[in-house]
Amino acid sequence: MAIRERAIELKTLDQLRLMREAGLILSSALDAVIAQARVGITTAELNDVFAEQLAQAGATSNFLGYYGYPATICTSVNDQVVHGIPDDRALEDGDVVSIDGGAIVRAASGGKGWHADSARTVIVGTADPADVELSELTEAALWRGIAAMATAGARRGRVGEIGDAIDDFVTERAGSKFGIIEDYTGHGIGTAMHMDPDVLNYRSRHRGPKLRPGMALAIEPLLVRGKIATHTLADEWTVVTNDHQRAAHWEHSVALHEGGIWVLTALDGGAEKLAPFGVQPVAF
Ligand code: MF3
Ligand code: CO
Repeated sequence: MAIRERAIELKTLDQLRLMREAGLILSSALDAVIAQARVGITTAELNDVFAEQLAQAGATSNFLGYYGYPATICTSVNDQVVHGIPDDRALEDGDVVSIDGGAIVRAASGGKGWHADSARTVIVGTADPADVELSELTEAALWRGIAAMATAGARRGRVGEIGDAIDDFVTERAGSKFGIIEDYTGHGIGTAMHMDPDVLNYRSRHRGPKLRPGMALAIEPLLVRGKIATHTLADEWTVVTNDHQRAAHWEHSVALHEGGIWVLTALDGGAEKLAPFGVQPVAF
């Protein structure tokens, strides 16, 4: 048991501005990948689209080379939950594909790079309505979690409130129809992609540290149509559900500052998607 909270990197506004730059580059690179996602394209081709976008924008990849990871995005298809490696697999009608990407931006003066991390799920061709429901609920759960970061952050509540909100929301909307993966969590982000604290997507007695201005969190619920048990394939990356039911993944990197929250990886800072939850993001 920890006797004190581990140090969490608190960012200055100028540092958050560099993360915002990375977030905007990442958001438009994901737009480009989603625009190309269709039946017949390979996941390796989607990786090339993303890599080209980052290069054109002058950003670098935080995924490539991460513990030896061989690509700039993760493409997780159907029963692949997360960390699928792009390859020559061609997408088929009705495939559920989560695209997870990241970017690093460095100040002109040099210094450490600043990270962004975001994921979206797309269904190519003719979608099974149950898959649409899965992906839409996962995205809504992400926004519910971001809204909780705003309301809890305003009163210096704890990171655990994000997971409470996601968990309760999924149960209210869908009962036990969908499962929330517990093997993988969101995380702090800043001068590295994965930093403290862990950001759980479910209710836990571990309440986490207090939310403080300068924190940046990647919130990333993973929902499945079946049971939440997973295993990793022999490639040591690709995570699949044991029951081979399908999964969806949505993720944003979000900053908390004195004025409120701002979704770094959303073009409008999250304004449109947070409105239904009564939260207005604030630029810095
Ligand atoms: N964005 C992913 C996450 O936080 C990290 C991918 S690590 C990589 O879950 F090595 F696969 F790129
Ligand atoms: Co992440």
